[in-house]
Amino acid sequence: MKKEIPIELANRLINHGPLVLVTSLYRDKANIIPVAWQTPVSISPALVAISVNQNSLSAELIDQGEEFVINVPPVSLLDKVKFCGAYSGREVNKFDQTGLTPLKARMVKPSLIEECIGHIECQLYGRHTVGDHKLFIGGVVAASVDEDKFDGYLRAEMKEAKTLHHLGGSYFLSSGDLVPLT
Ligand SMILES: Cc1cc2nc3c(=O)[nH]c(=O)nc-3n(C[C@H](O)[C@H](O)[C@H](O)COP(=O)(O)O)c2cc1C
Repeated sequence: MKKEIPIELANRLINHGPLVLVTSLYRDKANIIPVAWQTPVSISPALVAISVNQNSLSAELIDQGEEFVINVPPVSLLDKVKFCGAYSGREVNKFDQTGLTPLKARMVKPSLIEECIGHIECQLYGRHTVGDHKLFIGGVVAASVDEDKFDGYLRAEMKEAKTLHHLGGSYFLSSGDLVPLT
């Protein structure tokens, strides 16, 4: 038996790819936004996409700065993730308020977040208005990772490499056991 669910809840079936913290910068304004709606979209060229609320400061900064960084936080950063999602960078400086450490990126102006496991540096490849969000497609120009937490794959068996997955609302999962396809 299948049951119908409201269309507005459909995203909750696929919401829980790794939650990421996207950093952006335009002029001297730097910001951090938690984004659950992210996905790789092309292998060659390497492209990723994020869907960002049109009213957020982040959408404005990415539109103008034309660069962003996708940072992958470990589970231990959950409180800081919630803080960054509860306030707009128009009201607070999220780096100052969370104590997250900006780290110079290799190829783009927005900073990496040092406490995150991995980082994907992107230059804007395309943008589309989609409903009430903006879909930003990023061309990947550099990527880096904590060396002990990645050996070709994220080492999901390590507690420190466990990622956050947003079910929606105030519910999250942490990544579980590695299930190799043999
Ligand atoms: C766990 C979590 C996931 C979120 N995912 C998204 C998302 O995918 N896209 C989005 O636009 N906002 C998302 N948000 C909401 C933004 O983070 C929130 O609107 C934020 O305050 C915007 O900040 P800004 O105005 O500083 O850019 C999420 C919030 C949380 C807590």
